[in-house]
Amino acid sequence: MQSYEEFLQEILIDENTLQQRIGELAAEVSRDYEGKPLMLACILRGGVMFLTDLMRRLTIPHTVDFMAVSSYGAGARHSTGQVRITLDLHTNIAGKDVLLVEDIIDSGHTIASVIQMLRTRDPKSLRVCTLLDKYERREAEVPIDYCGFKIPNKFVFGYGLDLDEYYRNLPFIGVVRPDRYIPPD
Ligand code: PRP
Repeated sequence: MQSYEEFLQEILIDENTLQQRIGELAAEVSRDYEGKPLMLACILRGGVMFLTDLMRRLTIPHTVDFMAVSSYGAGARHSTGQVRITLDLHTNIAGKDVLLVEDIIDSGHTIASVIQMLRTRDPKSLRVCTLLDKYERREAEVPIDYCGFKIPNKFVFGYGLDLDEYYRNLPFIGVVRPDRYIPPD
């Protein structure tokens, strides 16, 4: 795999800007959930970088858990919006204040399906915290309670978001060069 520079058109959100905003979000979450049994539920894999930086800055006690989802077959997520759980939470969320942590909300189908599934488990509250909101692409209505950045409809990678599974480790959000990147079949 080539170096990421090959595919980088521009840095959309640099490391300092990301980290400063994550600090602000953590302060907001810490205020809102003071004295409550907060559980962060991270949707793998893209949300991991954001989760770890966010939780480092929370000033209130909290637990973390993980889940993974995938669409019902190729392209199905876009046509039907349905996703299935491939890795479920280990925690019983009944009576808990759950905050879903995502890297990006695009069409909104993933998070909408996750919310629908988790609501049946009777959490005390269920809210959404996303680092990025690609709002122009929304197809499903999604309540976003905490949002880092609204971004334009550009193909982005880095800071948890992959390019063919690579470059999730980059400390910034970059825009992919359309003339250099050829998607796999
Ligand atoms: C990305 C992202 C969200 C979802 C958003 O995950 O992490 O879960 O897509 O898209 P949507 O709003 O259109 O549903 P992806 O399927 O790329 O998996 P990954 O996190 O493992 O990279």
